[in-house]
Amino acid sequence: MKTSPVIVALDYPDQASALALVERLDPTLCRLKVGKELFTRAGPPVVEALVKRGYEVFLDLKFHDIPNTVAAACDAAADLGVWMMNLHASGGRRMMEAARERLEKRSQRPRLIAVTILTSLGEADLAEIGFTGTPAENVSRLAALADDCGLDGVVCSPREAAALRRERGPEFLLVTPGVRPASTSLDDQKRVMTPADALAAGASHLVIGRPVTAAEDPVAALQAILQSLKQN
Ligand code: C5P
Repeated sequence: MKTSPVIVALDYPDQASALALVERLDPTLCRLKVGKELFTRAGPPVVEALVKRGYEVFLDLKFHDIPNTVAAACDAAADLGVWMMNLHASGGRRMMEAARERLEKRSQRPRLIAVTILTSLGEADLAEIGFTGTPAENVSRLAALADDCGLDGVVCSPREAAALRRERGPEFLLVTPGVRPASTSLDDQKRVMTPADALAAGASHLVIGRPVTAAEDPVAALQAILQSLKQN
């Protein structure tokens, strides 16, 4: 495998706990995701510490605001040296294009992907906020809009990956959480796929948290996941 498709979710409340896990990992085996909790508590220094240790970082802050504000936030994220960041596609075309255009001014543009419909929202939740149609229809429509705005891909459920891969072609990034090796606990995830099945369905990257971070030996857990991908 040339580059690992695994992105380990660093869901920790402070920098020390996050770095304690990271010291046991290896940047040739995975990338890292920093989300809202860790970033809100530990701030830019935690991202910079990870980048300094040679990791490619996905800053998962799901920006959603007026175009100028989101473009400026993306610029700030790029200054931290992140590899990938995201925003909500429902912020609309002008917001997505403004963010992409701002990042394009850089010699090395970080990847920019969109969240379509949060997997926590069902059809009734969508209807209540004025979205008609099924979650799957909304996911397809917003992924098409993100693609049309020049974004690199979307975050999606592994169950949405096959349809999105068909609709959006081979280059579009499909970053999927909700992935569990066959032998591990589901935690609070309900509808999961194994890493190999998620890749076979069309995912380009797998966001995996607790199966690695809560393992007694995180590197062994990660290596077992990577091994399961080679066998397919
Ligand atoms: O520990 P686990 O593998 O469940 O972590 C998955 C990560 O992906 C967490 O950071 C979680 O917030 C994120 N995520 C998710 N489901 C979504 C979107 C994001 O689990 N639909």
